[in-house]
Amino acid sequence: MVKRPLATIATALLVLSSAACGLRGGNDHDFGGTDDRPVVGFVQVGSESAWRKANSDSIQVAAVDDDRIAYLQFANAEQDQQRQIEAIRELIEDEVDVIVLAPVVESGWTEVLTEADRAGIPVILADRAIDEADEHLYETRLGSDFVEEGRKAARWTVETFAGENAGLVEIGGTPGSAAAEGRNVGYFEVLEDEDLDYELVDSEFSDFTVEGGKEVMEGFIDEHGLDRIDLLFAHNDEMGIGAADAIEAAGYDPGDDVQIIIVDGSRAGFEAGVAGRLNYIVECNPSFGPQLMDLVVDVLDGKDVDKFTPVEEGAFGPEDFEDEVNHRDF
Ligand code: AHR
Repeated sequence: MVKRPLATIATALLVLSSAACGLRGGNDHDFGGTDDRPVVGFVQVGSESAWRKANSDSIQVAAVDDDRIAYLQFANAEQDQQRQIEAIRELIEDEVDVIVLAPVVESGWTEVLTEADRAGIPVILADRAIDEADEHLYETRLGSDFVEEGRKAARWTVETFAGENAGLVEIGGTPGSAAAEGRNVGYFEVLEDEDLDYELVDSEFSDFTVEGGKEVMEGFIDEHGLDRIDLLFAHNDEMGIGAADAIEAAGYDPGDDVQIIIVDGSRAGFEAGVAGRLNYIVECNPSFGPQLMDLVVDVLDGKDVDKFTPVEEGAFGPEDFEDEVNHRDF
């Protein structure tokens, strides 16, 4: 098997920070050498979306700005679980003080997180969750309530399509990811609870990218045409925008002939809303770097932390798009 090199990246600032502090900590919370501050290892999903890039920036900048942290070792796994596992093993070898993991998918973590546990390195989940059976292998998770995001999308669907027997399609995120699973579960839970009269014309997973969303929508169009499709629920901005391109290329109006809900709320997402190409935006908030640093310090100080801390998120209809677009920082 070819071992792919990890795309281990440090921003210029982080390199500076690392060079200035330059120390690795021990496993017993004695952070080593002449510097008492902890080294944080962060294994990121990838850079598939504006959300993801904003999330990496938020965490990197917060680590650099935070005097309580020695430095952050950052690994970008390019949406590949095996790379994430290899990155965790490297961080264990490097004896970092805490590992922050944004897991690409929910399953398959037992072995490597047990290794971290045996090495005495606490693990914090950022963004996505892992299987409940592995709950004892991490201290806490900071991120979105994905089920609630799906519910928000569904409440708007119910308000908009009540009594219409709407034809729906869904483009989910990465299969097996907590974001895709949670949004799907929350969405259909509310549609069923509210007894909406709808037909699920099709539902496919993709990979949270523009190209992925476009390709899936093209497939839906080839298979079903667009006359029966009234609404697309796309699990992020990129896939919704890619799908809107496919709808336009087929000679239909995205946002009008086919209404579109997206999740994230990037500037590009709001701009598409202002242009009338989509209709509802469920916010997913990537800017939790400072909050994460507080959690890192609390965990290392042995304080009691909640098992899950949700980040604050809203939802926006067409009446909000103009106002909100200039407040987006990613
Ligand atoms: O896990 C959060 C999701 O991951 C965001 O909605 C998506 O844009 C990102 O890639």
